Amino acid sequence: MSNTVEIRTAERYTVTIDGGLHACCGSLLKQSIPSCQVAIVTDDIVGDLYLQTVKKSLSDAGFKVCSFTLPHGEVSKTIHVLSAILEFLAEHHLTRRDAVLALGGGVVGDIAGFAAGTYMRGLRFIQLPTTLLAAVDSSVGGKTAVNLAAGKNLAGVFKQPCAVICDTDTFATLPKSEFSNGLAEVIKYGILADETLFDLLFDNDIDYASEQVNEIVERCVRIKERYVHEDEFERGARQFLNLGHTIGHAVETCSEYRIPHGYAVSIGMVTIARAAEALDWTEEPCAQSIAHTLEKNGLPIRTDFHARELFDIALSDKKRSGDTITLVVPRKIGDCFLHTLPVEELLLVIAKGLGEEV
Ligand SMILES: NC(=O)c1ccc[n+]([C@@H]2O[C@H](COP(=O)([O-])OP(=O)(O)OC[C@H]3O[C@@H](n4cnc5c(N)ncnc54)[C@H](O)[C@@H]3O)[C@@H](O)[C@H]2O)c1
Ligand SMILES: [Zn+2]
Repeated sequence: MSNTVEIRTAERYTVTIDGGLHACCGSLLKQSIPSCQVAIVTDDIVGDLYLQTVKKSLSDAGFKVCSFTLPHGEVSKTIHVLSAILEFLAEHHLTRRDAVLALGGGVVGDIAGFAAGTYMRGLRFIQLPTTLLAAVDSSVGGKTAVNLAAGKNLAGVFKQPCAVICDTDTFATLPKSEFSNGLAEVIKYGILADETLFDLLFDNDIDYASEQVNEIVERCVRIKERYVHEDEFERGARQFLNLGHTIGHAVETCSEYRIPHGYAVSIGMVTIARAAEALDWTEEPCAQSIAHTLEKNGLPIRTDFHARELFDIALSDKKRSGDTITLVVPRKIGDCFLHTLPVEELLLVIAKGLGEEV
C-alpha cells in the first residue's frame, strides 16, 4: 500500500507516495481526472531519466500526451521560458479540460504550475516531484513562481494541483547535495512540529535507500498540509514554514547563491536556535541536537559571514513588513513560535546565534 495524504484546500487532492509510481501514474491519475490531453513539462536531466516511463504509463491509460523540456536549473525559471510553455500549450491546442503535468524538481513544478494557473485562466495541474525538496515542500501547497531580474519568485499565482504522485525511487539518481538540500527541509519539519521525525534523523543518517524514506516524505507532507489547510493563501500560519529561512536567505544571498538553499537554511536553523537559547526564549535547550542532526545528515552548521553582513541583507528581505520582522523560533523540538520584533533587533539575534559580540 502506498502512503497517501489528503490535502484540504478549497478543492481537495491526494498526495500518493511510494517507489515505482511512475510506471502506474497513468492508471492512478485516471482515478482523479477524466481522459484528456496531458502536457508534460520536464527538464533535460529528469526527462532523460523518467520521461519515457511516464509517457508510456499515461498513454497506456488512455491519455493523449505531449512534452516540453526546459534546460535544468534555476536559470530556466524565467518569464521567457514561461512564455515558451504557454505558446507550446496553445500550439498543441490544449483546452481547459486538459492538464499540465510537472515532472521534476521545484523549478519545473514552479514554472509548470504558473503555466497551468494562467493558460486559459487555468487548467488542471499535476505534480510528479523527483527531488526530495519538491516532494516535501514545493509540490504541495499551490505556490508557483518565476524569477524576475529584481529577485527570486517575484511573479506567480496560487495554483493547487489536482494530484501529486511522488515516486520515491527517483531519489536514487539525485546528486547527494540535492538530497541533502531536501533533508534540510525535512529536519525543519521535525523541529517545527514532529519530534518523532526529528528523532529519526537524529539517530540515522538518511539516504535515498533508507527504508524510512516513504514515511519521512509522508510525515513532512502531513505537516505542510496542516499549515496549508489553515492558511491556503499565505496570510499567517504558513509563516511557520520559514523556520531558518530569514537568516538562511541572507546566507544564500551573501554567498551569491554559491551556498545552496538547503545548506543555507541549515545554517539559519542552527543560528536561530542558538540565539533563542542565548536570549532565553526556549523552553528546552535544543540547539545542540539540531546541530548534531543537521551535521549527521551532511549539512553545514557554521558560516564565515558576520552578523552585520547577514543583517544588512536580511533588512531587504521581502518578507519584512514595515519596521518589524517575524522570526520562527524553536521553543523545543517539535514546537516553535512566531516572534515579531523591531527590525534593528535582528542584528543582536544573528550575533547571539553566531556567538559574536555586538
Ligand atoms: N512552490 C513552493 O512552495 C516552493 C517551495 C520551495 C522551493 N521552491 C522552488 O523550488 C526550486 C528548487 O527546487 P529543487 O531543489 O527541486 O531544484 P531543481 O528543480 O532545480 O532540481 C535540482 C537539480 O536536480 C535535477 N534533478 C531533479 N530530479 C532528479 C532526479 N530524480 N535525479 C537526478 N537529477 C534530478 C534537476 O535537473 C536539477 O538539476 C527553487 O526554484 C525554489 O524557489 C518552491
Ligand atoms: Zn526552503
